[in-house]
Amino acid sequence: MNQGKRVGIVGAGNVGATVAYSLAMLGSCHEIILRDNKIDVAKGKALDMSQAAAAQRSHTVVRVAETMENMVDCDVVVVTAGSPRLPGMSRDDLLMINANITKDVIQGIAKYSPNAIVIMVSNPLDAMTYVALKESGFDRSRVIGMAGILDSSRMAAFIQEKLGYGGGQIRASVMGGHGDDMVPLPRYSTVAGVPLTDLLSDSEIHEIVERTKHGGAEIVSYLKTGSAYYAPAKSTALMVEAVLKDTKQIHPCAVYLQGEYGYDDVVSGVPVMLGANGAEKIIEITLNESEKQMFQNSCASVRSLIDTLNKNKFFEGK
Ligand code: LAC
Repeated sequence: MNQGKRVGIVGAGNVGATVAYSLAMLGSCHEIILRDNKIDVAKGKALDMSQAAAAQRSHTVVRVAETMENMVDCDVVVVTAGSPRLPGMSRDDLLMINANITKDVIQGIAKYSPNAIVIMVSNPLDAMTYVALKESGFDRSRVIGMAGILDSSRMAAFIQEKLGYGGGQIRASVMGGHGDDMVPLPRYSTVAGVPLTDLLSDSEIHEIVERTKHGGAEIVSYLKTGSAYYAPAKSTALMVEAVLKDTKQIHPCAVYLQGEYGYDDVVSGVPVMLGANGAEKIIEITLNESEKQMFQNSCASVRSLIDTLNKNKFFEGK
């Protein structure tokens, strides 16, 4: 079905390589092109994955682009490049380092894959999605950040753990930015259609909400030298698939808001309909007063990162 589709992945570290592996196993595309400054490491991983694809009887081939010029005409490009979040480092500490890396990468994508849908994964996620949008000049539907699927999946796993049942039937919902003030929405979370609020007490739900907000840090605290990658990669692969297969399904993703939810010129996580043209529609769900307040706080945090970029004249000349 997706014969001929090409996916570029910039950054072949744990997240990028695991996205490539997931896509190769799914046979979602004809070709995956990895780009990383560690060219030999990328080559080794690409060979290994092509061989895994052969074992899986998948037609997907994984190869390496030594420079951005070699990553041409991709249908989707996933950007995971950036300095990783190390223990003790907040997502925001990464801001200026990763903004500069993103700028370089995006300029290459805009030049060599001008029709691609760009999926941003680098942290701080919402600010990097904003940088990618501004630097690419693409329509906002074509630059989408991955976080909502990850944060919702974490919440779903915590719900399953707390309940002790319902695995595979849980639909958890998280909106807002990918930061400590993300907005988990128990009111919009269900197990086989049963509202979470009918299954767990307020204090149990509160625990799940708090654990979800710090789900990334919990994993960093165990891994010590890096951050999560299986769930981030699987969440990214889901987005790539939705675009390649034009599924028109709703997923929580980070997009540039232009009036939706009352916000402008900021990126935040909201439910969007994903299809071949990227984030084809933004869905506006009804929030109560406290949810609105949390969403406002989350947008304000992302806004402050954008303000820092502006203060450092990052977008000068744009
Ligand atoms: C996470 C970090 C990497 O959520 O953002 O795992």
